[in-house]
Amino acid sequence: MRPFSHTTAKQLLPVANEPVLFHVLEAVALSGVKDVGVVVGATSGQIREAVGDGSRFGVSVTYLDQREPLGIGHAVHISRGFLGDEDFLLFLGDNYLEKGLIDFVSRAGQSGFDANLLVHGVTDPSRFGVAEIDGHGRVVRVEEKPPNPRSDLALVGVYAFTPAVHEAVRSVPVSSRGELEITDALQWMIDQGLPVGAEPVTGAWCDVGDVDDLLGANRVALGATRGLMEGDIDSESTVVGPVHVAEGAVVRRSHLHGPAVIGPGAVIDDSTVEGFTSIGAGCGIRGSRVGASVVMAEASVERVNALTGSFLGRGAVVSGPSTGGGGHRLVLGDHSRVWLAS
Ligand code: G1P
Repeated sequence: MRPFSHTTAKQLLPVANEPVLFHVLEAVALSGVKDVGVVVGATSGQIREAVGDGSRFGVSVTYLDQREPLGIGHAVHISRGFLGDEDFLLFLGDNYLEKGLIDFVSRAGQSGFDANLLVHGVTDPSRFGVAEIDGHGRVVRVEEKPPNPRSDLALVGVYAFTPAVHEAVRSVPVSSRGELEITDALQWMIDQGLPVGAEPVTGAWCDVGDVDDLLGANRVALGATRGLMEGDIDSESTVVGPVHVAEGAVVRRSHLHGPAVIGPGAVIDDSTVEGFTSIGAGCGIRGSRVGASVVMAEASVERVNALTGSFLGRGAVVSGPSTGGGGHRLVLGDHSRVWLAS
C-alpha cells in the first residue's frame, strides 16, 4: 500500500470518499451488531480519532490493543475478555463488501455451526485463505495461501464464530510467517469435528491490499452512487449520470460524469470529472480532466489533461500545463508535488 502506508492506516484510505473501515462499520451496524471491539495496533491513534466511540455508526466501540502484529488468531485471543462467551462476528477492516453482510449474521446464528465463513470464487486463490467445501455447504478443509489451491474459493475476511474458536486459537502453533492464523484455528475446529459452514458473498468483494484494489473498490462503491446536488453548480456546468456533489462544494464551467462523488468544500473549475472518480473534501480541480481516480482531501489538480486511474494522497499537488493527450497515471503520497509539462 506504499506510499500511503507511510502516512495512513490502510483501513482509513477512502473508498467513495469514506474510509474503508467506515464501510465496514456501517455493514456491521446494519447486520444488527451493537457492540464492536476494534483491534488496533501501530495506527491506533488515527483509528481512534476517526472512529471515536462509534456513535456515528450506531454502535458502541471498545478499543482492544494488539501490541504486536501477531495475526488475526492473536487478535481474537487478546479480545477474549471483551468477547466473553458470546457468539461474535470477525470482520477484517480492510475488506470492502459491495452489498454488506445481508443477513449473514442472523443466518450464522441459526446455523448451529461453530464457524460460518463468507467465500468468493477468485482467479488467484493462492493469495488468500482457501476453503474446500462439500456438497452441503460444509467446509472440509481450509488452507492459508496454499501454493496449489484445492479450490478457487477464497476466504473473505468475514467470519461468524461461537466461543468454540477460543480453544482453537489457543491450540494452534504460530505459522511460518510468524502469526497465529485464523485459518489454522478454523482447520483445528474442523479436525475436532466441529461444524464449519460457508456461503458465497453477495455482490462484489474487494480485499484492499494495494492501490489497484482501492481503485477497484472505489469503482464498485461508486456504482451505487445516487445523484444528489447539495453544493453549488453554475448554469454553465453539466451533470450526466449519478453524481453526489456534497455541501459546500462549488462547480463552475465544468462537466461531471457519474458515477462520481465530489466532497464537501471541493472546488471544480473549468474541468471535466469523468466516471468512477472520487474527489475528496476541500480539493481544487481547475482546468483539468480527471477520471477513474481517487483524489484525497485537500489535493489539487491544475491545468492537467488528463489524469486517469490515479490515486492522489491528501494535500498532493499536480500542476500543468499539460495537454497529455494520452493521459497520465499517477499514484502520489500525501503532500507530494508534481509538475507536468507535456
Ligand atoms: C487474511 C486471512 C486470509 C483471508 C484474507 C482476506 O489474509 O489470513 O485467509 O483470505 O485475510 O482478506 P491477510 O490479509 O492477513 O494476508
